[in-house]
Amino acid sequence: MEEKEIKELIKRALDMRNFSYVPYSHFRVGAAILAKNGEVYTGCNIENASYTPTNCAERTAFFKAVSEGVKEFKAIAIVGGMEDATELEYCPPCGVCRQVMSEFCDKDFVVIVAKSENEYKTYTLPEILPDRFGPDDLLG
Ligand code: THU
Repeated sequence: MEEKEIKELIKRALDMRNFSYVPYSHFRVGAAILAKNGEVYTGCNIENASYTPTNCAERTAFFKAVSEGVKEFKAIAIVGGMEDATELEYCPPCGVCRQVMSEFCDKDFVVIVAKSENEYKTYTLPEILPDRFGPDDLLG
């Protein structure tokens, strides 16, 4: 991916943190997914008083895209941190979100974990979810 494209995706993820609904953890996460059709789908984390219905930012973004018929993706940018933090630390995607990524994404899908537009790390999906259980495993 081009650096310009990565920075733009991080910026979209950073903007999404403002929409996080986090009255319980106060930990704001934003995500932005670049689809193969060039569109960007964004998401934030949405918590719940009953705790377990909480949806991570990454899954919010994926489900927005898939619910609009988009199922092919190139990359995701993820940013997170406490709402009063002055600087962000890296926020790696949780295991459930990695599994959701693996449902729709190829081996070359890029996961960008960022502190800012200028400070980020990139991984491929197999690097952060090796030997995953996926759609192929159900074919018998
Ligand atoms: N969270 C995400 O949105 N994405 C992750 O990958 C890690 C965790 C959210 C869930 C919850 O609202 C808060 O961060 C603290 O776990």
